[in-house]
Amino acid sequence: MEQLSVPQHIGIIMDGNGRWAKKRHLPRNMGHKQGAAVFKKTINWCRELGVKCATFYAFSTENWKRPADEVDGIINLLRQYIKDIRSMAKENVRFIFIGDINAFAEDIRTELASISSDTAENDGFIAAVALNYGGRAELAKAARELAELVKSSEISVSDITEELIEQHLYTVEMPALDLVLRPSGEQRLSNFLIWQAAYAEFVFMDVLWPDFTKKDLEYALEQYASRRRRFGGI
Ligand code: IPE
Ligand code: IPE
Ligand code: MG
Repeated sequence: MEQLSVPQHIGIIMDGNGRWAKKRHLPRNMGHKQGAAVFKKTINWCRELGVKCATFYAFSTENWKRPADEVDGIINLLRQYIKDIRSMAKENVRFIFIGDINAFAEDIRTELASISSDTAENDGFIAAVALNYGGRAELAKAARELAELVKSSEISVSDITEELIEQHLYTVEMPALDLVLRPSGEQRLSNFLIWQAAYAEFVFMDVLWPDFTKKDLEYALEQYASRRRRFGGI
């Protein structure tokens, strides 16, 4: 496999919003608000730096454990940011929403579905937003879909290969994941793209997501360019 110096697909775990707010004696949701603004800017920085696709981890299947006021705050922010996303759709960005969006209210589901269909032909950049996403839930969903296909005799058990599983993942239309970037100082995946990250490179950074800048992204891309990926070879 040829290694390009610029990653084609970056996964970004947008973490550290709560700590950013706490440092400023602000409510946690102010951190989420600031983080959402950085999300929008990061799409442009990625494009300027030659990245083709980015998946942004915005809300995990485990984040429902948080207090109701924080969850409600994040969901209301999503409502506001849908408007911004719409405006970026005019800039040739394709939006894909990954995760089980059935958990959200109907107005949000309708908007997300219409943004993804309206931008389906855009080819300047793919921005995937992970909402109510969990890597384990994604694999369980793929398993259910494949089991249905076996049950209806459309495929046989021996047809289930890695490639077929990949066709049932949310990332099916995206380039392979090259780099996972996690700000906030935590060094874990937290159930993000667990299958796709099998051979990805990782860059962990101490910066909190709301403070993330283009320089931080450039640093992560430099780290990536300096790595030697072997994919099990020599
Ligand atoms: C990430 O920031 C945003 C979500 C998980 C929704 P956090 O809210 O996890 O921020 P910290 O980790 O508490 O600082
Ligand atoms: C991961 O961050 C999820 C998102 C950034 C959306 P968390 O803050 O939820 O992860 P943990 O709990 O620190 O592992
Ligand atoms: Mg966190």
